[in-house]
Amino acid sequence: MNKFVYDLPCFNSGGETKHMRISYALLLLLVLSGSVYGFTFSVVMTLPHSPIIPKDNPQTPAKIELGKQLFFDPRLSVDKSLSCNSCHNLAAGGDDDGMAKHLEQRTIRRSAPSLYNVAFQSVNFWDARAHSLEQAITEHLLDKNIMALQSENKLIQRLQSIKGYEVYYQAAFKHAKMNVQTTSKALASFIRTLVTPNSQFDQYLNGDKQAISANAKRGYKIFNDYGCMSCHFGVYFAGPAPGPAYQMGDGFYELFPNYLGSDYDKKYDLTSDDGRVQVTGDAADRYLWRVPGLRNITMTAPYFHNGSVNDLNEAIRIMGKVQLGLNLNDNDVRDIRAFLESLTGEYPEIKLPRLPDTHGLSLQVK
Ligand code: HEC
Ligand code: HEC
Repeated sequence: MNKFVYDLPCFNSGGETKHMRISYALLLLLVLSGSVYGFTFSVVMTLPHSPIIPKDNPQTPAKIELGKQLFFDPRLSVDKSLSCNSCHNLAAGGDDDGMAKHLEQRTIRRSAPSLYNVAFQSVNFWDARAHSLEQAITEHLLDKNIMALQSENKLIQRLQSIKGYEVYYQAAFKHAKMNVQTTSKALASFIRTLVTPNSQFDQYLNGDKQAISANAKRGYKIFNDYGCMSCHFGVYFAGPAPGPAYQMGDGFYELFPNYLGSDYDKKYDLTSDDGRVQVTGDAADRYLWRVPGLRNITMTAPYFHNGSVNDLNEAIRIMGKVQLGLNLNDNDVRDIRAFLESLTGEYPEIKLPRLPDTHGLSLQVK
């Protein structure tokens, strides 16, 4: 059961914007619909040990194990050069440390987000163009700039050429075939196990008042008072997570930059990628982005959709300015950072899988 901390954000007079009022309305809706459906929604919640699992892709040990093999297998990329783990390094923050943008032979403009706790997002990718993990992964498998298999046939051929996979697909999917859907489902099942509960902040919410430092307590307070919480709330500090009131596919978007025209726009190239308008074609969606989660944020530099900011202190300062119109002072930045540091959870122990081998042969790359 999530702990209920009913602590609605309140803004200082300079900070309120149209989009924040929308957040207020959304919060109210969630709280009200929560009481109708008989579940508890609160603005701040401990991270559950498991996300909501979609009905059409139940978790099974065989599927999770297959998903783990696929995740670590570079033969899933067209030239066998990259596994999922190359850009979402689970031995570190689950992200790419800014690496993907610099890959040769691929054009990648955005930073690879962490996959830890990503199952608590109700839409996927920075611009929310995917409505489920399965959909995001299917796109990735075929995307010429990611796994680059480009057609489902090529994926099937590749998997069939690694004979050992068949038995794992059989175990995971019984009569279903080896195809892009089953592959995406297995990978999504594995990703849903990547949860990092029990952060110091969660312990604090559970009643251990000493679990976070005095600076973190003040940071939490001003994070709320200044209005960061109007966008970064809920279990993942990314707005509403999938649940009874908010379904997978219901996105939570905000403007970034909310206040256009600061020096940061140019310095960190915050405006050349205009976000969700590229998905919808609707001018009203210009500079709208999905609100990203903040758990484990100290582990996932560089920051923002373009990975242009290397330092978390600078990212906090920028957020104050471009989202709230505030010049945060050094103490504010220090304390918000201390609060964000307390959000780092316990990473699951991941045992490297054995990958099916090809019996004394190497796969030729064509
Ligand atoms: C070449 C680097 C690269 C590889 C390899 C890669 N990814 Fe990604 N991944 C990215 C980037 C970049 C994004 C963000 C794209 C965007 O938002 O437009 C992303 C986003 C995602 C997301 C959405 C995350 C979110 O916050 O919503 C998921 C899920 C994901 N990748 C899973 C995978 C899986 C599974 C594999 C292996 C099949 C994989 N990735 C391989 C670079 C990569
Ligand atoms: C109006 C909504 C809004 C407010 C208010 C807001 N944020 Fe954000 N935040 C966002 C969005 C949207 C992004 C994603 C921006 C992008 O596309 O790069 C983001 C990104 C971030 C990131 C980088 C995440 C990553 O994975 O790279 C951090 C850190 C952050 N916010 C912290 C804060 C802090 C601290 C405050 C208060 C000073 C704050 N935010 C206020 C909406 C908001």
